[in-house]
Formats: sequence, structure tokens, C-alpha cells
Amino acid sequence: MAGVNIMAKDIDHILLDEETIRRRVKELGEQLSDDYEGKEVVALCVLKGACVFFTDLVRAMRIPISMDFMGISSYGDAVKTSGIVKITKDLDTSITGKHVLIAEDIMDSGLTLSHLKRLLHERQPASVKVCCMLDKPERREADITPDYCGFIIPNEFVVGYGLDYGQKYRNLPYIGVLKPEIYKQD
Ligand code: IMP
Ligand code: MG
Repeated sequence: MAGVNIMAKDIDHILLDEETIRRRVKELGEQLSDDYEGKEVVALCVLKGACVFFTDLVRAMRIPISMDFMGISSYGDAVKTSGIVKITKDLDTSITGKHVLIAEDIMDSGLTLSHLKRLLHERQPASVKVCCMLDKPERREADITPDYCGFIIPNEFVVGYGLDYGQKYRNLPYIGVLKPEIYKQD
């Protein structure tokens, strides 16, 4: 049916609507522009989850930056990470001496990002900081906090705005809590 988002039936409730996200991303962009002005910045998009957030975030920044993309996949099931990270696509450019700003969809256990940060530090960048759209601090296992964070959220499984369940729902324009029966039936 025209006008109805078919994916919405799998969503229990909307946690962050489009307008709320838009406003916060704009604020983050302003803050990052102030903090990184005059520096050589590589904005790093962690594929695939950060893709939607990344494209909005970089457009909210009003300083020159370069962009690069890294594909990582963490071994584990669909709702929980194992912390073992595999690079499926490496950066195309050198980050040595540059300020790396990692854009990520969500920090959950923190294992993925602490592993990724360690790995990037080996390439001797000037700095590495993390900007997460979402943070679930309750679930933290690694000793890491995002340098910039869009929203702190409760311990619920969310999808949309880049976040997936089984590769689906990334294209929902808002962030919603998936109905538990959707992931329990698998
Ligand atoms: P961490 O290593 O546990 O911090 O896992 C981070 C990754 O787990 C994210 O990049 C997401 O791909 C995935 N993830 C964690 N929580 C959620 C969620 O609520 N919805 C969708 N993906 C999630
Ligand atoms: Mg992910």
C-alpha cells in the first residue's frame, strides 16, 4: 500500500524519531566542527551499520575532511558480539599523522570499537576518537566510552537508521525497538 512502511509492523515502538535524530546529528556536527577545526581529519565510516549516520554527520560538519570506509564484521550471533573483529574492507588511504574520527552506529559491549581503536593506533595516527550514534552503557564489557555520543539508550535491541537485524531494517528512517518475537522466532 502506498505511503505505509511495511517494516513498521515489526517495530514495537519508535525510540528516536527522524526529527530528534536530525537535531542531534546537527549538534554533533557543530561540536565536531569546533573541536577539529584546523586539523587534518579522516572521518571513518564503519560499515555497514554507521553508513546512514555517517552521511548525515559529515554533512553537518562545516570543516574540510576526508572520508574513508572500513568494513568490519564481528563474529557472533545476530544480537550479540563476540569481540573478535575481522576486517572485510580496509581503508584506502594512510591515516599516519592524521586525526581519525570513527563514526559508529552503536557501542554495546564496546569490544568491537576497542579492538578497532587498537588496530588503528598501530598505524600511528595523530589521534583516534569515536563518535557513536547510540550508546548502551549497561552492556559494556570493554573499558571504553565514546568521545562523542548521539544518545544513551536502554538495553533494548534497536533497528533502523543503519542498524540491522539479520541485515534488514537498516533503511528505516528512525530508530525503533524490534518486537522481541521477531528475533526469538529465528
Ligand atoms: P559491541 O562490540 O558489542 O559494542 O557491538 C557493536 C555492534 O553490535 C554494533 O556495531 C552493531 O552492529 C551491533 N549491535 C549492538 N547492539 C545492537 C542493537 O541494538 N541493534 C543492532 N545492532 C546492534
Ligand atoms: Mg554493526
